[in-house]
Amino acid sequence: MIQYSLKGQNALVTGANSGIGEAIAIGLAEAGANVAVNYVVGPEQAEVVVEKIRSFGSKAIALKADVGNEAEVKAMFKAMYDEFGTIDILVNNAGLQRDAPFHDMTLAQWEKVMNVNLTGQFLCAREAIVEMLRRGVQPDRSPACGKIICMSSVHELIPWGGHVNYASSKGAIKMFMQSLAQEYGDRKIRVNSICPGAVQSPINRPAWDTPEAMERLMSLIPYNRIGQPKDVANLAVFLASDASDYITGASIFIDGGMTVFEGFAEGG
Ligand code: BGC
Repeated sequence: MIQYSLKGQNALVTGANSGIGEAIAIGLAEAGANVAVNYVVGPEQAEVVVEKIRSFGSKAIALKADVGNEAEVKAMFKAMYDEFGTIDILVNNAGLQRDAPFHDMTLAQWEKVMNVNLTGQFLCAREAIVEMLRRGVQPDRSPACGKIICMSSVHELIPWGGHVNYASSKGAIKMFMQSLAQEYGDRKIRVNSICPGAVQSPINRPAWDTPEAMERLMSLIPYNRIGQPKDVANLAVFLASDASDYITGASIFIDGGMTVFEGFAEGG
């Protein structure tokens, strides 16, 4: 039988109060996981997600932390363990864009994107792996000791002028993910990336919120529709589950064919 159930497993999803992170938190809960809902701004939105998760009969808590801040990340993991005991699934989802023509890009814009999109994934994965190694495999839960899912982007492959900080952070996530998968494979920690294309969420509102923008986007997507957060959530549940037990070190593109479009990227 194909095993998608996450019953009894504990997940942390960063940036889970909106967009793709919210959909993943809800998807994992629907599959039976308890979920810690990280957010940095918007506590009310995080509470809505928590309530929804509880309605599936799973445990949930909202945890405020800036993923780029070491002390806050450590405190978040401690609060999660106090509530759930341990962690089985980490979804390193939190990310942002601070777009600018490169010659105008400020150091603050560069550092903010690197801090959240790259350092944030480092800080959270390190905490999760420490706990997974301490606990070891529990065969009654999963043949894997733990599952780490890194949110990357089609822009780990497609260069993205006008967004050099963002594309650089996602290119780095590719090596981050693959190196972790290599280092911890023998300890049964699976590490994979999800690489979304255009998904309708707050991060890319300008790309879809006018008919002209949407038309332009459609001309880049062979499958001819914008992605929805739920599309990405379905993939995250699969990667967190034992149905994907032999997948580690993989970047999985979920983009309606954007990466195979002959004109390639959305541009600046
Ligand atoms: C970006 C979106 C963009 C998409 C496709 C994503 O990684 O966050 O803003 O629409 O890539 O270019």
